[in-house]
Amino acid sequence: TAMKLVVTGGAGYVGSVCAARLIEAGHEVVVVDDLSTGHADAVPGGARFIEGDAAETAETLLGEGFDGVLHFAAKSLVGESMQDPGKYWNGNVVTSLRLLDAMRVHGTPRLVFSSTAATYGEPDSSPIPESAATRPTNTYGASKLAIDHAITSYARAHGLAAVSLRYFNVAGAYGAYGERHATETHLIPIVLQVATGDREQVQIYGEDYPTEDGTAVRDYIHVVDLADAHQLALAGAAAGEHRIYNLGNGTGFSVRQVIEACREVTGHPIPAAVAPRREGDPAALVAAAGRAREELGWTPERADLAGIVGDAWRFTQSRRGATAPR
Ligand code: UFG
Repeated sequence: TAMKLVVTGGAGYVGSVCAARLIEAGHEVVVVDDLSTGHADAVPGGARFIEGDAAETAETLLGEGFDGVLHFAAKSLVGESMQDPGKYWNGNVVTSLRLLDAMRVHGTPRLVFSSTAATYGEPDSSPIPESAATRPTNTYGASKLAIDHAITSYARAHGLAAVSLRYFNVAGAYGAYGERHATETHLIPIVLQVATGDREQVQIYGEDYPTEDGTAVRDYIHVVDLADAHQLALAGAAAGEHRIYNLGNGTGFSVRQVIEACREVTGHPIPAAVAPRREGDPAALVAAAGRAREELGWTPERADLAGIVGDAWRFTQSRRGATAPR
């Protein structure tokens, strides 16, 4: 059934893809984004767009009566969170608490929250189930974990139907919607910048990890599979409950394997140089994502790494076409 939804952060990478898919599924979507890291032209056509702070806007907007909120708006750079923690405690935690209160005041029944694998920190074992200990190694992960705790108690006390989705490494694109950060730190877009000639080489952060080829291993998930999980979460949320699901494919790829996949997809040699480890990077983060499959009926259909990279590559090339000087 069609719902009336607020999508915070709908001008960002994951938020814009999810908003586009929600609109295609027949939902009514209002995007709220302050454009601090998002792009106005990434807001899907068909969405109403309000430029503003997520909490401040929600405090009045939710009075119109909504079926739910999908809360993507957040600060999400691990390195920055260590240099400028206030930006994360205020921008993520305080904003989300105000949003929760606005939902309570206006009786908004459903919340889907963008949590992260960074809530787990360095895992005791791999793959990581939702029952794993949460010991974030950076302020970004700590801020998302604090919000998860707040959601649990709001759901219990106020009857909110809440789902937190703990993303592993989101990648790929959906047509015109994809990853374009002013400050790019993510592996696949960086490697593709080498293929377009915008960057000379990729640095491999550490070759002495206890993994098969010595480089760090991650679980890459296609942004469209991720978006599908949000729709299932929205449908499956139950009043008074806060459910938490890992979203990943359960397969790890090393930094070298990702670079190799990018070479095959782009046909570019992509020079790589080994550099020191990046502070706070765990050796391997792979999801045990059985709970989302069993309880939400989620079936990721785009797990193939070459397919994920291929979609990101098409998006990167189309953006270059869109921004090239004439
Ligand atoms: N990497 C490189 N060279 C680069 C960029 C990245 O070798 O130029 C490596 C990283 O060290 C890491 C892997 O590639 O081992 C993936 O790095 P990303 O920055 O793409 O992703 P992360 O795994 O660091 O981060 C992701 C999410 C974060 C989240 C984190 C959980 O993007 O939001 O997982 O640890 F916090």
